[in-house]
Amino acid sequence: MNSLTAVCPGSFDPVTFGHLDIITRASHLFGKVIVVVASNGAKHCSFTPEERVNMIKKCITGLDNVEVAHYDGLLADYAAKRNATAIVKGLRAMSDFEYEFQMALANKKLNPNVETVFLTTASQNMYLSSSMVKQIASMGGDISSFVPDVIKGDIMNRIYQKNRKDS
Ligand code: COA
Repeated sequence: MNSLTAVCPGSFDPVTFGHLDIITRASHLFGKVIVVVASNGAKHCSFTPEERVNMIKKCITGLDNVEVAHYDGLLADYAAKRNATAIVKGLRAMSDFEYEFQMALANKKLNPNVETVFLTTASQNMYLSSSMVKQIASMGGDISSFVPDVIKGDIMNRIYQKNRKDS
C-alpha cells in the first residue's frame, strides 16, 4: 500500500451505502483515508456533527486505514493540515458534475497541492442520497437497503420520532 493520504468529505447527514462504497474503494487506493464531516453552508443538517461522526465510525469497523473527523473550516485547509494529496468524491450522474467540477477547481486554487479524484458511484447507488433516506425514514419506511443495520435505529429514532412529534 502507498503512503498517500486522501480526505473523503461530505455532510453525511446521514452516511449511506453510497458513501460507504466510495470510502471503502478509497481505502484500497490510499494508505490512509480521512472521512471528514464538513459543513455545506447551504444545508441544514438533521444530525449534529458528533452524531454524524459516530454513525460513520459504527459503519467502518474493519477498515483499518480509515479515520473519521469533523472540521468546520475550509476543506482545502484541512487537507493541507493533514498532508493529504487527494480529495476523493463520488460522482453519481452528469447532474453532479458541474457542482463537483466547481468545487474541485476552487479547492485546487485554495490548495494547489491537492488533487480531486472522482470515483464513479456503483450503479445500485446512483439514485441514493441522504435526503432520500431521511424522507423515507420520516414516513416510517424501510431504510434497510440504503444504510447499514448498525445505524438504522439512530436514524429512525431521530427522524421518524421527530416527524411523529411534529405532526
Ligand atoms: N452515493 C450516493 N449518494 C451520494 C454519493 C454517493 N457516492 N456521494 C454523495 N451523495 C449524496 C449525498 O448523500 C448528498 O445527498 P443530500 O444532498 O441529499 O444530502 C448529496 O449527494 C451531495 O453530497 P456531496 O456532494 O458530498 O455534498 P455535501 O453537501 O454532502 O458535501 C462538502 C459538500 C461538505 C464536501 C463541501 O460543502 C465542503 O467541502 N465544505 C467544506 C467548506 C469548504 O471548503 N467550502 C468550499 C468548497 S469549494
